[in-house]
Amino acid sequence: MTEHGMTNQLLFPSGFLWGAATAAYQIEGAWNEDGKGESIWDRFAHTPGKVWRGDTGDVACDHYHRWAEDVAEMAALGLKAYRFSFSWPRIFPTGSGQPEQRGVDFYRRLIDALQEHGIVPVATLYHWDLPQALQDRGGWVKRDTAQRFAEYAAYMFRQFGAEVPLWATFNEPFCSAYFGYGNGTHAPGIRRPWHVLTVIHHLLLAHGWAVNAFRATMTSHSAVQPAPAIGIVLAIWPHHPASQNVRDIRANQRVDGAMNRMFLEPLFRQRYPEDMLRHFGRRLIFPRIRSGDLDVIACPIDFLGVNTYTRMVNAADPFDLFLGARQVAQPGAHTQMGWEVYPLSIYEALQMAHSYTNIPLYVTENGAAFEDVVAPDGRVSDLERIAYLRDHLAEVHRAIRDGLDVRGYFAWSLMDNFEWNHGYSKRFGLLYTDYSTLKRISKQSAYWYRDVIARNGIEPS
Ligand code: FCB
Repeated sequence: MTEHGMTNQLLFPSGFLWGAATAAYQIEGAWNEDGKGESIWDRFAHTPGKVWRGDTGDVACDHYHRWAEDVAEMAALGLKAYRFSFSWPRIFPTGSGQPEQRGVDFYRRLIDALQEHGIVPVATLYHWDLPQALQDRGGWVKRDTAQRFAEYAAYMFRQFGAEVPLWATFNEPFCSAYFGYGNGTHAPGIRRPWHVLTVIHHLLLAHGWAVNAFRATMTSHSAVQPAPAIGIVLAIWPHHPASQNVRDIRANQRVDGAMNRMFLEPLFRQRYPEDMLRHFGRRLIFPRIRSGDLDVIACPIDFLGVNTYTRMVNAADPFDLFLGARQVAQPGAHTQMGWEVYPLSIYEALQMAHSYTNIPLYVTENGAAFEDVVAPDGRVSDLERIAYLRDHLAEVHRAIRDGLDVRGYFAWSLMDNFEWNHGYSKRFGLLYTDYSTLKRISKQSAYWYRDVIARNGIEPS
């Protein structure tokens, strides 16, 4: 307490964008309604054995029908921004061709409602749900898919360019490439690691073409102030070697290279990391990089979104054919995902992003899954989540104090939802989703976050 009776709060810059995030397949449901096409996640989840207990996103949180209530929940939380993703197959059921007006109308209603409540819409164009029809033609192994993405993006910019101030092309291309095509744990469930570099190149190319389309479209919206911005969302997880042994240090560099530098370097330094090309060169098919591709990929963007949850501690492992590394479990607290609770990781992730670029940064995802229960009095007292969020926000605050231009923070997630191959077994929400009634129940963390937003700061611990 100070002499005025005020606590020493850690205050954030005025205008700091407090938000929460979701993704289309994880919350919308209505998987085949209003003309929506099948996505690779529909196909994957409908394939026995792919998702925990056979869970699917067919209904998910039924947000497609309950969007109005959900926006009301956001308003009650005092959210300044809401990050969501567009479902590509809702707009173009087969990936290209004629747009489905009912899909466009759904997002128009959502965006209008957000604006009516003064909540800034932050839209991601691709959060992993490729139209299955494009997968049938080879998916991201094919350069043509990148072209189709750019067309879809251009269409969305024409529809919503002026209403959405912040656009992200891709969410975590890392996961699409390595989990979708490498180990097959995510849709489309392909296990052909030799294609991973090609997939990465096409995802990044698609990003660059979309950014160019954005610039071209926005010249006709030049009256919109402030001008809408575009960026990309990367998973940035810090990596630490398990020991100072040179083999562990090298193994750690490879994991960091595969996860972080394979994306940061082409986007901001116009080249793929040499050491990774050398490492992968012996194992994987090298993508056909055409002249000009890296200029497209490295075209200037307006912000970088950082999704970060934990760190990884890595050691050398000759039995791992892909990276020659294994993760070393750490003592101490872990979340329901088995991820170490290590708040310093968010500071390190932001510093890593900053070492590549001076553009504004947003924490576009951060949060924790825990085994929440609804008590008989109807309350969900998720104190571990509050501690997690608080401690991570304190590190974001420190990054800002140290001079980093961090403009916002989005809690993952607004509500419990379909956690990919883990189905509904992991709860990340500020709101508890009761999957039998589809009711949302505010967890204690939701009330806590509401107060953080209202104060624009957190209490020091
Ligand atoms: C991120 C994803 C998000 C969610 C969280 C837990 O990698 O972008 O959809 O699954 O992890």
